[in-house]
Amino acid sequence: MLYRRFLRPILYTIPPDTIHPIVAHGSEWAARIPGVGHAIRAGLRVDDPVLQTTVDGVAYQNPVGLSAGFDKDGQFLHFEETFGFGFAEIGSITGRPYPGNPKPWARRLVRNDALVVNYGLKSQGVEAVSQRLERSHVLMPYGISVAKSNLPDCFGDTAIADYVKVYVRTKNLGQYATINLSCPNTADGTPFSEPKALEPLLKALVEARKQHDIRKPTYLKINPDIERGKLDRVLGLVQQYELQGLVIGNLVKDKARGHALLDYPEDHNLSWPGGISGKPTRTLSTELIRYVYGKTKGRMTIIGVGGIFTGDHAYEKIRAGASLVQLITGFIFGGPATIRTINKRLLFLLKRDGFLTIQKAVGVDAS
Ligand SMILES: Cc1cc2nc3c(=O)[nH]c(=O)nc-3n(C[C@H](O)[C@H](O)[C@H](O)COP(=O)(O)O)c2cc1C
Repeated sequence: MLYRRFLRPILYTIPPDTIHPIVAHGSEWAARIPGVGHAIRAGLRVDDPVLQTTVDGVAYQNPVGLSAGFDKDGQFLHFEETFGFGFAEIGSITGRPYPGNPKPWARRLVRNDALVVNYGLKSQGVEAVSQRLERSHVLMPYGISVAKSNLPDCFGDTAIADYVKVYVRTKNLGQYATINLSCPNTADGTPFSEPKALEPLLKALVEARKQHDIRKPTYLKINPDIERGKLDRVLGLVQQYELQGLVIGNLVKDKARGHALLDYPEDHNLSWPGGISGKPTRTLSTELIRYVYGKTKGRMTIIGVGGIFTGDHAYEKIRAGASLVQLITGFIFGGPATIRTINKRLLFLLKRDGFLTIQKAVGVDAS
């Protein structure tokens, strides 16, 4: 309440590209001061055995994670753990450094609970990020979001080699990897989200997995607005190449569709480049989660992301079939107490419905 009433209006006078690094570095700094970090942790983390869950062999203290894009270079893990997250996805990380698209990278659509995002896979590159993560003492599980460099020469086989480079270099970092297929902001569109282009990529990753003995769970991240026919073929490939599941989903990349999903479309300009996050992605991703869970009879892990602002939104995705959930826009808009509020509400809802563990609630609404 304090945040929404007083702090947020002040922060909103500053463009998101300016304020994000200031708040994130400041919070990381605070979280690292022993007494201060301890006090924030005590106030914001919700620890309860009902929230603990194990997914593909990885134990999580709670199922609410930070989605890829907030901590692109692995700089804020203490902050994320201290502020209550159960896990975080670092990245997306690319093989080579890229300074990002021309600014603005993010625009707030406040009345729509949404952001227009156009970072264009900004990354310090896999070597710098890996070295930083190797030096970090990390208290919670985290995933590595793997993408290809957004550089004009990074196409076809070069792009595949770039994905493999990130996957292999980070093999001992974090507890899982996500292959980010939906890179709507890259110069060459989204070739690897096409099943025809996806197969050689998965083949190369699986070969690397064998050759380098990579054992951590690997997921594919897809757009929430993927067509059903294409999705069915992607599901077939995920099974064929024995990946563990899907992260559903990324930004809405279809501009007209994203625009139509806004409560106040007049706040959005169709000429702005980039994808849309937040509330417009909520129903699209939940419906996709329900579909995939039903179709695969719960045999594929699903990490649910898109438009989560409250515990009810997180619970809806879990009941649709997500074993874990993630958010970014809801955290940016909701402020420091967001994850505590979500976890508290999740606990209430699970207990109200008689579920003794998260796993028992996963997929109960999927047919
Ligand atoms: C500022 C910002 C940057 C993002 N960057 C990435 C990224 O680098 N890699 C990725 O896989 N997704 C990225 N995303 C997408 C989010 O991880 C998430 O899938 C999407 O925003 C939907 O979740 P939300 O509604 O909670 O924001 C980004 C989103 C935002 C808002």
